Parts: sequence; structure tokens; C-alpha cells
Amino acid sequence: MLPSLLLLWSLNQEIYINGLPCHDPKRSWSNQNLYSVPLDLDVRLRRLDLSNNFIRQLHTLGLPYLEQLDLSSNQLDLISEGVFENLARLEELNLSRNALNNNLGRNSKALQSISRLKSLDISMNRLNDEAVELYLRNKSSLDQLKMTGNALTRLSRSMFKDNNNLRTISIDNNLISVIEQGTFESLSRLEVLNLAKNNLAHICDFKLHQVEHLNLSRNSIEFFVTHEDERLYRLEILDLSFNKLLYFPIVPKLNRLRYLHLQNNMVGALTSEAEMVSEANSLYDEIVHQDYIPFAKNNLHSTWRLMPLTYIDLSYNHFRTFPLETLSLLSSLEILNFSHNCVQNIVWNIRNDSESRFNRQIFFSSLKYLSLQANGLTHISPLFLKALTQIETLNLQGNSLQPCAPAEHPILNPNISCVTFGNLRSLKHLNLRENNIQKLHVNMFQKTSLVSLNLAKNAHMVMHAGALEEVQGTLQSLTISEINMSGSDLSLPRMPALTHLNISNNRIDTIPNSLSCSPLTEIDIRNNILGSLNHSLILNLSGHLQIMYISGNNFNCCDSRWLTTLNELKIKLPDISNAECYTSENNILLTDYLENPLNYCLFHTNLEQIYINYAIFYTIYNKYTETIKAAVLNMNVLLVLTAVYKYKTLFLPLMKWFCV
Ligand SMILES: *[C@@H]1O[C@H](CO)[C@@H](O)[C@H](O)[C@H]1NC(C)=O
Ligand SMILES: *[C@@H]1O[C@H](CO)[C@@H](O)[C@H](O)[C@H]1NC(C)=O
Ligand SMILES: *[C@@H]1O[C@H](CO)[C@@H](O)[C@H](O)[C@H]1NC(C)=O
Ligand SMILES: *[C@@H]1O[C@H](CO)[C@@H](O)[C@H](O)[C@H]1NC(C)=O
Ligand SMILES: *[C@@H]1O[C@H](CO)[C@@H](O)[C@H](O)[C@H]1NC(C)=O
Ligand SMILES: *[C@@H]1O[C@H](CO)[C@@H](O)[C@H](O)[C@H]1NC(C)=O
Ligand SMILES: *[C@@H]1O[C@H](CO)[C@@H](O)[C@H](O)[C@H]1NC(C)=O
Ligand SMILES: *[C@@H]1O[C@H](CO)[C@@H](O)[C@H](O)[C@H]1NC(C)=O
Ligand SMILES: *[C@@H]1O[C@H](CO)[C@@H](O)[C@H](O)[C@H]1NC(C)=O
Ligand SMILES: *[C@@H]1O[C@H](CO)[C@@H](O)[C@H](O)[C@H]1NC(C)=O
Repeated sequence: MLPSLLLLWSLNQEIYINGLPCHDPKRSWSNQNLYSVPLDLDVRLRRLDLSNNFIRQLHTLGLPYLEQLDLSSNQLDLISEGVFENLARLEELNLSRNALNNNLGRNSKALQSISRLKSLDISMNRLNDEAVELYLRNKSSLDQLKMTGNALTRLSRSMFKDNNNLRTISIDNNLISVIEQGTFESLSRLEVLNLAKNNLAHICDFKLHQVEHLNLSRNSIEFFVTHEDERLYRLEILDLSFNKLLYFPIVPKLNRLRYLHLQNNMVGALTSEAEMVSEANSLYDEIVHQDYIPFAKNNLHSTWRLMPLTYIDLSYNHFRTFPLETLSLLSSLEILNFSHNCVQNIVWNIRNDSESRFNRQIFFSSLKYLSLQANGLTHISPLFLKALTQIETLNLQGNSLQPCAPAEHPILNPNISCVTFGNLRSLKHLNLRENNIQKLHVNMFQKTSLVSLNLAKNAHMVMHAGALEEVQGTLQSLTISEINMSGSDLSLPRMPALTHLNISNNRIDTIPNSLSCSPLTEIDIRNNILGSLNHSLILNLSGHLQIMYISGNNFNCCDSRWLTTLNELKIKLPDISNAECYTSENNILLTDYLENPLNYCLFHTNLEQIYINYAIFYTIYNKYTETIKAAVLNMNVLLVLTAVYKYKTLFLPLMKWFCV
């Protein structure tokens, strides 16, 4: 027993020798204003964090067990040759944010002497191509390499020739404009390659079969082309966002691509989809065959057809037509972000089958999420909506779409430019915010099972009392804010599933009592003209209510049982410090009011209170007048008031207590 206890004790991190604590083997020396490496380091250290100091030179370290060394954010410009000789176990070295562009000769000798490193970070050292090439020699075990924020301009075949085991390379935020053929091809284990924020203009021949995650975001790439071959590429994530692409990329024919980021490019600037596809294909022929081949194969479509893509972001491009056919080829596509383009009209202009004269039916058979936000849409073909057989979320915010009246049928009369949402059976979340909708018709959402609906900021919208009837049983979240709606405009059906309601920024003076059977957990009633809330309604809601936003209303301090109740029930009122109520004299903050309600409003306006108040009067002042006495005994309010008025000089000191 004793020896094992001793062993446990000696393994403990807080070891005391001669009563003095030794350094915890994991102790951090970060941010200690150090100008050199401390001399009294525990030889058993496995990790040493010296980041964020002012260390300029690194000399021999005798730490035979050290595995991780962090020297990031120092002023290191000199590493002595023998430094790493005694660091037999060092695997992770972080040298980012130093000045290793100096003393290249000595530093590279030092760095070349460790071949066991698995992870090296030399980001932000102002390193040029030559420096990096020297620093990377003799590193055959290197698995992870980070060179973010240096001054690399050209990647050559010799750069990684000693680093055949690299799996992850980040060279983002440099000045790279040229990548020589063969630079990455020999790195057979390479999985993640980050080249974001460089100066690359073209990818003419993508050949990296092994890479799974390629980031080319924020370059100046105009096109991305892969020569067709029969090999399987392992590419799963391709980020080409923030470039200058005019066309869809031509990706490998056989790939595993699931995420394609194309936002913030110039795709779609050409007028029609057909033109866009044929231009992409001729570009391909020009690059691959160095020739223009009339009636050549549709390479774009044949590779897209095989792509197992589930996510594509095409937001912030220049589309003027919706590329129906191209996108419908992506049979696994679940999420499509098409926001911030310029498609005003989604027409169903599908090319007919060559044999039959009829319109082909195409479907977006996996699409669950579609955002068409901020396109300036005025029309969506009902055939397009019909093709969205699995759609769950439809974001149409910031367009100019008008819902159809019950009599209007855009399928029967294509000239009608309204949208019908009925029959989208899978639809759960619909955002119609900011569409300048004029009217929400009865049964608009027939046969849908909407869970959330956003109708905010349709400033002139009139809502038919039956507009939500078909979804009253499923709706969980409803936003009707910024509509300038009055209390009488707002009629809501009973909604037994509703948990979130936002009716902020309107002119509402009463909350519909129909809400009392909804399990609301969050209500936003900010910026309306509510004077009070129905106490019975609040009590009914209190079982579920967790959070309520109330500021910007006209609350009457003396009619605030609802508020004391909310306060007592500890319902969260996040904006209470901005909320006010008024008395006959002035406005006060609700927080002040709640601290001592009696200070501001001793008596309430309801009848019961008035009787009590006058009863108190009676006991004090019965000696003055028999009239009051008689009236109070008869509980006749009118008589009491008349009497009080008659003898007001006597009661004046007490009058101010009344909030009538
Ligand atoms: C190196 O240190 C920097 C700054 O402390 C940190 O951001 C970076 O992630 C570290 N590198 C690695 C590979 O952990
Ligand atoms: C490469 O590293 C090994 C051990 O890690 C060392 O023995 C050898 O001298 C190094 N080569 C160079 C050129 O520094
Ligand atoms: C690609 O790099 C950019 C810039 O560093 C970054 O914002 C983006 O999230 C990265 N993309 C992916 C898919 O990781
Ligand atoms: C596009 O929509 C997706 C899904 O909601 C989202 O993840 C992505 O961030 C959006 N893209 C932009 C540029 O906002
Ligand atoms: C395609 O089919 C539709 C519907 O039958 C027809 O109106 C149209 O004229 C056809 N177009 C062509 C080019 O054949
Ligand atoms: C649609 O409009 C066109 C041209 O304005 C007209 O020729 C056509 O008859 C209209 N169709 C229907 C169904 O009203
Ligand atoms: C809101 O409605 C009121 C009353 O109809 C009107 O006076 C006011 O101008 C409207 N405000 C806006 C922003 O439309
Ligand atoms: C309610 O809607 C307004 C305006 O549309 C928004 O600013 C606010 O954040 C929403 N409230 C909640 C709780 O989301
Ligand atoms: C609150 O609502 C209930 C139910 O509709 C009603 O009977 C009661 O008079 C209301 N209370 C006030 C103070 O308006
Ligand atoms: C609160 O619930 C009770 C009992 O269910 C009901 O009688 C009352 O009308 C409700 N209050 C409001 C304001 O709807």
C-alpha cells in the first residue's frame, strides 16, 4: 500500500520539496513580461507556454520530456543552432507572431535539426518563399503546417519536398499568385488545404485527388476548371467565395463534394441560363482542348449531375435568372442560399424533351432550405413552388411578392403575378418579412403545416381574420411586427401550439384574449400603445411564460396588477430598465415603480379600492360631515364624490393620493 501511495503522490502536479512548490509541469509562462526563457524550468515539463512575452533569442533548452512548445507572440529573431538537440520529444512548435524573417541562416539550421515535429506554426513572421523553403527542410514527420499571414508569392515543387506526411496546410493571407504544377500532388496524405486570401486568378487544372477540404476564398479567381478523368477525387468542401467567378466551377467528374461556397462572386451575369451553361462549356473546351468545339458535350451538366452536393451558397452573385435546370441536377441538394441576387421573376422555362413536345417535369427532390431573400422578386411560377417537394424553410424576405386572393389561380392564368403558398405540404418556416404585402387573404396557408411565420415590416398589410385559420394548430412562432397595426386590426385565432409571439412596433392597445390558450414562452410587445395588460390573461399565460419585452408602451402605473404579477412570478423582463409608466403627474421607470409602488400609486382605480379608500376617509373625517357619513354607509360612490368635492378644501391634502 505505502509504495503505491508514494507513487501517486509523486505523480501529483503539486509536488512539494523542502516545503517549496515545484513548477506544475503544465504551468503557463504566458504573459509574464519575460525577456528570456526562465532558467529554473522543471526538467520534467511536457508542455511549455511562453507565448506573449518579449523573448528575442532562444538558446539551448534542457527539457528532454518536452512535447509542446509555444513561443507565439514574442520578438524571436534568433534561434541558436543547438536549441533542439536536447528536446528529443518535441512534436508541436508554435513560433507564430515573431520575427523569423531575420537571421535566416542560423534559424534555418536550428529548425532543420528537428525532423520529428508533427505540428509547426510559423504564421505572421514576414517570411518569403526562400525563408519558408529553408525552414521546412528535414521535416518528414510534419502533419500540420500553418503559415498564415506571411509574404509568400509563389509555391514551387521544391517547397514541400521534405514534408511528404503533411495532412493540413494553411497558407492563407499571403500574396500567392502562382502555384507550380506538382507543388501539392506528391503530398499523398494532404486533406486540408487553405489558400484563402491570396492573389490566385485562375485554377486551370485542378488535380488534387487527395484533398478533402479546399479553401480558395478571397482570391481573384475567375474560373475553376478540372480536366475530366475517371479518378475519384476526395473533395468534400470547396470554398470559392469572394472571388470573381463568372461561371459555375467545373469540378471533378467523380467527387464527394458536399459543400460548395460560391457566395460573393459574379456568377449569373449573363442573361439566360442556356447562355451561362454554354459559355462555361466553351471556356472548358478552350482550356482543356485549346480549341473551340461546336456542339461539344455539356461538361458542366455532366459533372454536376454526379455531384453529391447537399449545400450550395450562391448568395451575393449576379444572377438575373434562376438557373433551374443546372440546380435541379443536384439531386442531393438540401440547402440552397440564393439570397441577394437580381432575379425578379422565376419563370418555368424548361427546355422540352427532344421527343415529346411537353414540358419536362423537374423536381428539387431533396431541397429543404431555400433562401431567395433580397432579390426584388415580384413573381414566382407556381410550377417552381410545386417542384419543391421537400421544402421546409422558405426565406422570401425583402422581395415584392403579393399573396394571391382565393379567386386568383396563377396556374390557370399565368398573367397573374401573385404567389400561392397553399399546398406546400412540407413547408414549416416561411419568412415574408418586408415584401410590401397589401393583404393577407383568408386561408392563405391552406394545406401547409407552418410552424413559424414572419410577416414583419409589411407596413400597409391588412390581415384577414381568417388568414391564419389553416395553420392555427401548428404555428409555434409568429412575427407581426412593424406593420402599423391597431388593436382592432389584429384578430388572432386560438393557437394552441404558439410559443413565440412578436407584435412589437405597431399601434396595438389590447392583446387579443384568444392568446390565453397559447403556451407562450416569449412575447414581444415593445413599442405599442398598451395602457395595461389584462390581469386574467397574464395569469393564464404565466404557466408557460418565461420572457417578455414590454418597453415603449403607454402603461398606466395605477393600473398595473399585471406588472406586479409578472414581477412576482419572476418572468424575465429584459428591457424593464427602459420601460416607463405614467401617473397623472409624470412618467416613471417601471423599475422605480416596482421598488415601491405605494410611493407612486397608493390607490387603484377599481371600484373595490375606491370603497376602501372612502371608508378610510369616513373614519378620519366623519366628524366633519354627516353627509359623507351617510353616503359612505350607503356605499354610494356618486354621493361620496359629490360630498368630497363639496368639502374639497378639507380633503385637498389627501386628494393627491388618488389616481382617478
Ligand atoms: C499558435 O499560437 C497562436 C497564438 O497564440 C494561436 O492562434 C494558434 O492557433 C497556435 N497554433 C497552433 C497550430 O495551435
Ligand atoms: C535532420 O534531422 C535529423 C534528426 O532529427 C538530424 O540528425 C539531421 O542532422 C537533420 N538534417 C539536417 C540537414 O539538419
Ligand atoms: C475559408 O477561409 C475563409 C477566410 O479565412 C473563412 O472565412 C471561411 O470560413 C473558410 N471556409 C470554410 C468552408 O471553412
Ligand atoms: C446562406 O444560408 C445558409 C443557410 O442558412 C447560411 O448558413 C449561410 O451563412 C448563408 N450565407 C450567407 C452569405 O449569409
Ligand atoms: C414545349 O412544350 C410546351 C407545352 O406543351 C409548348 O407550349 C411549347 O411550345 C413547347 N416548346 C417547344 C420549343 O417545343
Ligand atoms: C396573358 O396576357 C397575354 C398578353 O398580355 C394575353 O395574350 C393572354 O391572353 C393572357 N392570358 C390569359 C390566360 O389571360
Ligand atoms: C400608421 O397609421 C396611422 C393611422 O392610420 C397613420 O397616421 C400613420 O401615418 C401610419 N404610420 C406609418 C409609418 O405608416
Ligand atoms: C421582434 O421584432 C422586432 C422587429 O421586427 C425585432 O427587432 C425584435 O428583435 C423581435 N423580437 C424578438 C424577441 O425576437
Ligand atoms: C380581461 O379579459 C376577460 C376575459 O375576456 C374579461 O372578462 C375581463 O373583463 C378583462 N379584464 C379587464 C380589466 O379588461
Ligand atoms: C383565463 O382562463 C380562465 C379559465 O380558463 C377563463 O375563464 C378566462 O376567460 C381566461 N382569461 C382570459 C383573459 O382569457
